[in-house]
Amino acid sequence: MKPENINEIVGSDRNHLWHHLVQHKQWQTTDPMVIVEGKGMRVTDHTGREYLDAVSGGVWTVNVGYGRESIANAVRDQLLKMCYFANSAGNIPGAQFAEKLINKMPGMSRVYYSNSGSEANEKGFKLVRQLAAMKNDGKKHKILYRDRDYHGTTITALSAGGQAQRKDQYGPFTPGFVEVPHCLAYRDPRGGDPDYGVQAARDIEKVILAEDPDTVGSICLEPITAGGGVIVPPEGYWETVQEICTKYGVLIHIDEVVCGMGRTGKWFGYQHYDVKPDIVTMAKGLASGYAAISVMVTTEDLFNEFLAEPSDTMHYFRDISTFGGCTAGPAAALANMEIIEQENLLDNVNQMSDYLMGRLNELMDKHEVIGEVRGKGLFVGAELVKDRATREPADESTAAAVVADCLKQGVMIGRTSRSLHKYNNTLCLSPALICTRDDIDEIVTAMDIALGNLPQ
Ligand SMILES: Cc1ncc(COP(=O)(O)O)c(C=O)c1O
Repeated sequence: MKPENINEIVGSDRNHLWHHLVQHKQWQTTDPMVIVEGKGMRVTDHTGREYLDAVSGGVWTVNVGYGRESIANAVRDQLLKMCYFANSAGNIPGAQFAEKLINKMPGMSRVYYSNSGSEANEKGFKLVRQLAAMKNDGKKHKILYRDRDYHGTTITALSAGGQAQRKDQYGPFTPGFVEVPHCLAYRDPRGGDPDYGVQAARDIEKVILAEDPDTVGSICLEPITAGGGVIVPPEGYWETVQEICTKYGVLIHIDEVVCGMGRTGKWFGYQHYDVKPDIVTMAKGLASGYAAISVMVTTEDLFNEFLAEPSDTMHYFRDISTFGGCTAGPAAALANMEIIEQENLLDNVNQMSDYLMGRLNELMDKHEVIGEVRGKGLFVGAELVKDRATREPADESTAAAVVADCLKQGVMIGRTSRSLHKYNNTLCLSPALICTRDDIDEIVTAMDIALGNLPQ
């Protein structure tokens, strides 16, 4: 239902809101879109038009879909009972969710609350810096990150960002962050080699050796790169990364902000591989957007490094996040996790993933502009090219035209956008974990029409 005063609301939006990631000039002549309602996989805008949302709230967040009463009730009840207290004290949902989460993460042990993915990653970086200061005069302070990965929007999270275009104009950056190469076989001349995964991981070792292993504290990686073009690491990659990190005493920080909470068909993306993280960060789908929450999870060994006699005034993690004490976050996250369990959504992700990949491969047979389809679970990308033989990337405007056409048809899909100078050419799909075959058919049909409408 459209609110009666919707025109006023659109006016307030146009006059006073500063939207994320968009050029406002367009709204001097058209209305900004205001999302008014959501139910299941669908949202309704201010004109009363309904859309099928194939990107879970635009940025891969609403994993269990819209309008979940059990989450809303859990948050409401908790807010009335106890809304907030700084997390130097505990709270009931905080303790309960920590235990439930750790039960899904063998080898991990401690949960640190904050309120965005960027912030959780910053906690991980601060841990590494402080550990270096406490243990070896700050020497092992460098943090490696990978070309094409993204870890957040703050200046330091951007310093760990491998998306060069996203960083443009925001420097200078925090020192001590060092880039390692990506592992996208499609865009690497060695990509066809059977041991490409091992070779790509060995590239990381070369960087560690060039920097001096005694100065490298951690490596921060997405398990499967999301906004950098949906990159599923090649076989042998993660296992070799583990071997290298163990050899040189480099902590493994895995950014599960997108992949966590079932997106890839397991609770966490890293659980597809034989790797033992020291730090795992998550946000987005953790509470499906029903409350702002992020966490950094660590091993007990790492936690123990920060244990000391209380008389030692500096030897503990001297970090705080005001809103890490909001109880709505863990209350929502608990109810969110219960939905994933009760509705067997991981099974649904795996079944729907096969179906979605199959349907996209059919599209690829039909449309030359699709160079490659790749993904895991319900996180899938289709990379667009000008020429399949040379793999010359399509222009950003091509991907934008497909997204806009789908929107006109009532289907919201995503794309890599203003992230990588040459490679803003991947269409991204991340429907909620509840999606059905009918939803997928609707998404793929819209894409088929949109791809067919591209100028030949
Ligand atoms: C992999 C990854 N890490 C971190 C972030 C940052 O999360 P937030 O926007 O909640 O700060 C994002 C956001 O898109 C992300 O994709």
